[in-house]
Amino acid sequence: MFAVAPMLDWTDRHCRYFLRLLSSRATLYSEMVTTGALIHGDVQRHLAFNDTEHPLVLQLGGSVPQEMAQCARMAQDWGYDEVNINVGCPSDRVQNNMIGACLMAHPDRVAECVDAMRQAVDIPVTVKHRIGINGRDSYQALVDFVGMVAEAGCEHFIVHARIAILEGLSPKENRHVPPLRYEVVQQLKQEYPHLQMTLNGGIKTLDECEEHLQTFEGVMLGREVYSNPWLLTEVDQRLYQDNNSLAPTSRSEVMLKLRAYIEQQVAQGVKVTHITRHILGIAQGFPGARRFRQLLSADIHRHENQLAVFDQAIEVLQGR
Ligand SMILES: Cc1cc2nc3c(=O)[nH]c(=O)nc-3n(C[C@H](O)[C@H](O)[C@H](O)COP(=O)(O)O)c2cc1C
Repeated sequence: MFAVAPMLDWTDRHCRYFLRLLSSRATLYSEMVTTGALIHGDVQRHLAFNDTEHPLVLQLGGSVPQEMAQCARMAQDWGYDEVNINVGCPSDRVQNNMIGACLMAHPDRVAECVDAMRQAVDIPVTVKHRIGINGRDSYQALVDFVGMVAEAGCEHFIVHARIAILEGLSPKENRHVPPLRYEVVQQLKQEYPHLQMTLNGGIKTLDECEEHLQTFEGVMLGREVYSNPWLLTEVDQRLYQDNNSLAPTSRSEVMLKLRAYIEQQVAQGVKVTHITRHILGIAQGFPGARRFRQLLSADIHRHENQLAVFDQAIEVLQGR
């Protein structure tokens, strides 16, 4: 299984629509949505998605079992294929609310959430976590965490192969400063061969994916997909052996499909730039890439007719 990672502010529904144009098989994750935002906020804004986005996972941030169960039910009712608990995000803001990586110190609480959620829904409940947090980074603590959460019924763990440092590092630094330790996740997989494990962190190529898929049931890529989305066009064929894949063969083909989506979304009041901000990476590696980025990251904000700027960007990619 190949998944695109949940990324706050990045993997919103427009981004996911775009990514889905590139691979029909990759599993897509939402941004993290907190239980507070879902229970007290604008549900439509947080949960709406396009039918094409499946397979699609909603990632929840929270740790109060009955709230997590309530939100899991909402995810199921809205048609998500799976609900995932965020036990990996190190931000201070989330720590105060007992959300994210700090929960690695509370496996019992995560297990209670899994249990409550599983009783509330039929879709799979999965957990995305780190290999540890500062002060609690022994292998045994990791084994205990997974063991306890698995006992509550979680059968699929997505493991970001580095610890999170909860004080002193920003969320961004926490994605590259603590070293990647794939060997720890490999050992964990050996410990629990019956559990599904997806490896995450620092993976950049499909060659690497193929290698990791010898050991793990899944791989999850975040930043590389966002900065080089064209990578997705080989996923169906190479990782799913899907020879009938409808993956696009040219960037301009994708741009034209996206244009139709933009027109439809604009008619519903969405700003063009809310969609186009996610596609800057698609020209990566081409002579026109700079021009393409300039058009869609700068010029488009200065023009009234934003679709015309989008059309110029299509021209840059013509034939590519
Ligand atoms: C902009 C950004 C936002 C992120 N937001 C989330 C999030 O909401 N939930 C989560 O579990 N991880 C989040 N992450 C972490 C990614 O899901 C992933 O674990 C991490 O980037 C490592 O994978 P990569 O090296 O393939 O990018 C975020 C990462 C980035 C770059």
